[in-house]
Amino acid sequence: MTLEEKAKFVVGVGMPGFGGNPPFEVVGAVGGTYGIPRLGIPELRFADGPAGLRIRPTRPGQTQTYYATAFPIATSLASTWDTATVEAVGKAQGNEVKEYGVDMLLAPALNIHRNPLNGRNFEYYSEDPLIAGKMAAAMVNGVQSNGVGATIKHFAANNQETNRMSIDTVVSERALREIYLKGFEIAVEESHPWAVMSSYNKINGIYASQSADLLTTVLRKDWGYNGFVMTDWFGGNDPVEQMKAQNDMIMPGNTTQSSLIKTSVESGKLDEKVLDRNIKNILQVLIQTPEFKKYQNSDKPDLAAHAITARKAAAEGMVLLKNDKMPLPISKDQKITLFGNTQIETVKGGTGSGDVNAAYTTSISDGLKSAGYELNQTEFDKYKTYIDDLRSQDQYKIKPSSWGEDFGKFIPAIPEKPLTDNEIASASKDSDIGVIVIGRNSGEGADRKVVKGDYLLSDAEEAMISKVSAEYHKQGKKVAVILNIGGPIEVASWRDKVDSILLAWQPGQEAGYAVADVISGKVNPSGKLATTFPEKYSDVASANSFPGTPVDNPTQVVYNEDIYVGYRYNTTFNVKPAYEFGYGLSYTSFDINHLNISEGKKFKDKLKVSAMVENTGDLAGREVVQVYISSPDGKLEKPAIELKAFGKTKELKPHQRELLQFDLNAKDLTSFDEEKNAWVLEKGTYTVKVGASSEDIKETATFTVDQDMIVEKVNEALAPKVEFERLTK
Ligand code: BGC
Repeated sequence: MTLEEKAKFVVGVGMPGFGGNPPFEVVGAVGGTYGIPRLGIPELRFADGPAGLRIRPTRPGQTQTYYATAFPIATSLASTWDTATVEAVGKAQGNEVKEYGVDMLLAPALNIHRNPLNGRNFEYYSEDPLIAGKMAAAMVNGVQSNGVGATIKHFAANNQETNRMSIDTVVSERALREIYLKGFEIAVEESHPWAVMSSYNKINGIYASQSADLLTTVLRKDWGYNGFVMTDWFGGNDPVEQMKAQNDMIMPGNTTQSSLIKTSVESGKLDEKVLDRNIKNILQVLIQTPEFKKYQNSDKPDLAAHAITARKAAAEGMVLLKNDKMPLPISKDQKITLFGNTQIETVKGGTGSGDVNAAYTTSISDGLKSAGYELNQTEFDKYKTYIDDLRSQDQYKIKPSSWGEDFGKFIPAIPEKPLTDNEIASASKDSDIGVIVIGRNSGEGADRKVVKGDYLLSDAEEAMISKVSAEYHKQGKKVAVILNIGGPIEVASWRDKVDSILLAWQPGQEAGYAVADVISGKVNPSGKLATTFPEKYSDVASANSFPGTPVDNPTQVVYNEDIYVGYRYNTTFNVKPAYEFGYGLSYTSFDINHLNISEGKKFKDKLKVSAMVENTGDLAGREVVQVYISSPDGKLEKPAIELKAFGKTKELKPHQRELLQFDLNAKDLTSFDEEKNAWVLEKGTYTVKVGASSEDIKETATFTVDQDMIVEKVNEALAPKVEFERLTK
C-alpha cells in the first residue's frame, strides 16, 4: 500500500446521511471500509445491532423487501440464563447479516447495568460481568458460526447516555478489572470476536479510543486479543492518538482524518510502523469476510425460521415476578379484559442504533387472540379507537426516527387511556380475569428519569392498577400485570395490589405470541433477573453519582460505589431490593440439593461443584442453578457474594431430577490487587452457595485456601489520576 492508501484504509468511508454518502448497496448499513481493488482488498460493510440486523427494509425502485428479525432485547436474553438460547439467536442474526450482504455485525453490546436509568441498558445484558461475558460470548459464537464477524461494544465503562461522547469516567483499577472489563475479558477468551468497538467516554481522563492502556496493554497484552478495534461512530478527538493506541479503524470516517494521518506520518509525528501494525490487525479479519471470499448473498434469509427462534427466546427470557395462588397460567376458557395502551402498542425493543426494522410486531392483544383467548371486545374497541384517534393528531403521529428512517420510528408517547369507574365495573363483571399491560421505551441518546411515566408509574397507570384490582377483587377475580419494559421500574408501591406480575421485557417482534405462550402455560416461565429491581431508586449504589457532575451538564462521573454494583451492593450492605438478582418464579417448584464440592476441604487449583435439581411440582419446567461464592476478607475486602457459575436444567418433568456440574479454576475465585497488578487468591475460608437467586440460597459448603496466591500477573494500566472516595464495608 502507498502511504495514501494506508491512511485511507484505517479510516471508514463515511456514513450515509451523516456528512458522507458512500454508495452502500446494503441500504441502512452504517459503515464501510476503503477498498483497494489493485491489491484485491474489497470494501466491507458494517451494520447494527444487538436485537437484530438494522438495515433499511425497502430500497428505492424495488419491490423486494429487506426486513430483519427483531429478537428480544439483550436484557431479556440474559434473563434466560441459557447460553444455548442466546447462541441460537446469534446464529440466526448472523445468517441475516450474511444473506443481506453485510460483513460485520456491530453487536453484541455488553456494558454493565451500573444504574437502572441508563437509556441504553436494554442493549446490555446484566449488572453482573459473568452473565454479561457468558451471554456475549454465546452471541458472538452464534453470529460468527456463519462466517461473518461480531463486534463487542462499547469498550469500556460506557454506562450512561448523558454526555456520553465526552464524559470522564473516574473509576478504580479494581472496579475496572472485576466489573467493567471482566465481561469483555470473558467474551474475548471464549469467543474471539472479530472486532471490538471502543467507547465514546473517557476512562480516567483519556478517551477509550485513544487509550493505549485499554486497547494495547489490557486488550492485547493481558488478554491476547488478535482481532481489530474500531471507534464508536464519531468517537474521540485525535486520529493520531487513536492510531497509536491501536484503535485500528476510525468510524464512520472522513477525509480530514485520513489526511491528518498521512501528514502526521510525513512529519514524523506518527510512525508508519504503527499504521502497518493496525492495518495488519484489520487485514487478518478482512480475509475471513464473505466479501473477501466473494460470497453471493441471497437477500433471502429464512425469516420464518428466525421468527420461531425469536419467539422461543422471548418466552425463555420472561420472568414471573409474582403469582399469588396461581392466577397464571390462564386457561383458554377464561375471558380476559386487557387494560393499558401497550396491549395494542406493544414495544418490541428500544430505540436508536439498537432498533430493528422488522416486518411486524405482534401486539399482546393479537398474540392472546391468536392463542385462542376470548378478549373483552368492548374494552378492546375502546382502546383501539382511543389510540387511533390520538395517533391521527399531529403531535402523536408516528414519524421516522429523528436520526433518519434507517433508525426505525419515533413513536411519541401517548397518555394512558383514562378509565371510568363504570367501565371498570362492567369489565370486571364481563370477564374472568383482568390483565393490565404497562409499557416503557427508552433508547440511545438519553437516559431515563425518576419521574412519573418513566421510572415511576404515571398517575393514570397508578389509578388503573388500583381501580382495576379493587373491582376485580370485589368480584372474587384476579388481576395480572404484564410489564413490557426495557429496564427496571418502581414496583414496590403497587405490587401488593395485584395477584400476578409477568416481566415480559421488550420481547422483539414475536412479543404477543411469546406472551401468550407464557400466559397460557404452553411455556412454563424460567427466566431469572440478571439485573436488580430496587425497592426505591435511592437504594441504587450509584444513585448519587449518576450521571455525574456538575449535575446540569456532567463532565465527570465518579464510580464511588467501586466494586459494589447491583447485588454486590445489596447483599454486602443489606439493602433489600424489590426483586433481587437471580429471582424468578415458575408454575412448578424446584428443590436444589446434594451440593457437592470436589477436592475435599482444601483448594488446590480446581474446584468442581455439583448440585441436584428436582422438579417438586406438578408441571414440567426448567430451573436455573446459581453458584455464588463468599470469599474471606484479607488485604482486599470482598462483596458478600459473587456469582461464579450458573447453569440451566433441561425441561424436567414432575419429580424428574438433573445433576448440574460446574468447574471453577483458581482465577475464577480471585480478586484484583491494584498494588500487585495481579489477580490474587487470598487465604481463608470460602463458602460455596448454590441457590435459586442471590437471596434464595439452598445449600452451602466451605473450603479453605492455605496461603495467599498470585494467580495471574497483569500489566499496570488505567490508574485513576484523581483521588476519590471509594465505598468500603
Ligand atoms: C452507537 C453504536 C453504533 C453506531 C453505529 C453509535 O451511535 O453508539 O452502538 O454501532 O452508532 O450505528
